[in-house]
Amino acid sequence: MAQEPFIVCDNLVKIYKIADLETMALQGLDLVVAPGELLGVVGPSGSGKSTLMNILGGLDRPSAGRVWVDGQDLLKMSDAALNRYRRSKVGFVWQQGARNLVPYLTALENIELPMTLAGQSGRKKRQRAEELLEAVGLSDRRNHRLAQLSGGEQQRVAIAVALANNPRLLLADEPTGEVDSATALTIYETFRRLNREYGLTTLIVSHDPNIARHVHRVVAIRDGKTAMETVRQSALSDTAVETTGGDGEAHEEEIFEELVVLDSAGRLQIPKEYLEEFGIKGRVRLELTEEGILIRPAPQVAHSAEAVLNEMLSAPGARRGGALGRLVAQLRQRAGHIFQSGKVQTGGQ
Ligand SMILES: Nc1ncnc2c1ncn2[C@@H]1O[C@H](COP(=O)(O)OP(=O)(O)OP(=O)(O)O)[C@@H](O)[C@H]1O
Ligand SMILES: [Mg+2]
Repeated sequence: MAQEPFIVCDNLVKIYKIADLETMALQGLDLVVAPGELLGVVGPSGSGKSTLMNILGGLDRPSAGRVWVDGQDLLKMSDAALNRYRRSKVGFVWQQGARNLVPYLTALENIELPMTLAGQSGRKKRQRAEELLEAVGLSDRRNHRLAQLSGGEQQRVAIAVALANNPRLLLADEPTGEVDSATALTIYETFRRLNREYGLTTLIVSHDPNIARHVHRVVAIRDGKTAMETVRQSALSDTAVETTGGDGEAHEEEIFEELVVLDSAGRLQIPKEYLEEFGIKGRVRLELTEEGILIRPAPQVAHSAEAVLNEMLSAPGARRGGALGRLVAQLRQRAGHIFQSGKVQTGGQ
């Protein structure tokens, strides 16, 4: 990449702990985003998408790994600096319109609010709010309150609110989650226009399988790691994105390529369907060919570690309890974790 990346996540780990229960929401996630990129983020429920957004937005801190945004190391920031970063550099759009807007304020007043909180006043504030309302195509709704706006309009006002303080990064967590597909199109269009006009680096979390049509690149997160990427094979120009709007003709010309992501340690998540198709599990043979690396199933020669442990467990020492039994039980418990993370790395569930 010629340009300095705007976002770099390196081996990002986030562990949530509630009482004794630990959840590893991010498990060594790597992600690089270029300045001005419009990125889609997809993945099953619970895969860590919101966790990633919260970390990038300075709402939460990772447990381990590194995260840089716009040349700043978010991990090294003091709480005060992180607050400043969140207020001045990041705009958020959430799934529910109600979370984004104050219900008793008009669209225009909602957009002015973050500027008021940041200490701005007077004509400049009003001017900026009007400009943003125009940018999201809602000048004629300036005096409408939350309940007087459609779901799609609420989200477009929310986008304008998010941009009020001129952020460098726009994070949207399922902004189209509660609207129909036609309305979703107008929301995507708004993101595209702002991305183009303001050069705003934008991340949109979505469950929409068609998101690839509306963004430059899509990354898929699975089990807290970036697993796949979908890129347009044609040049990633804005016009290419623009042609995806309404007519079906243009869609047919687009070719999307799904790429598997290799993490910094050289691991990749092979899609589950591929593994099942060839009966691949446990271990594989890697063959270097002229075209690339071929993965073949290997005969299951050795016992799996689990089978070996099961045998040990059923051995007399284990059943009698005592030190050996405890050791075997501990080993088994640890192996459980290893098997789990092994599954994660091969994409199996
Ligand atoms: N504050 C929290 N405390 C404890 N566990 C959490 C917390 N937030 C998220 N998790 C857990 O972390 C994992 C990832 O959650 P996250 O919200 O990032 O998923 P997601 O990909 O956004 O899912 P969805 O598509 O359902 O919004 C989940 O297992 C979730 O239960
Ligand atoms: Mg979420």
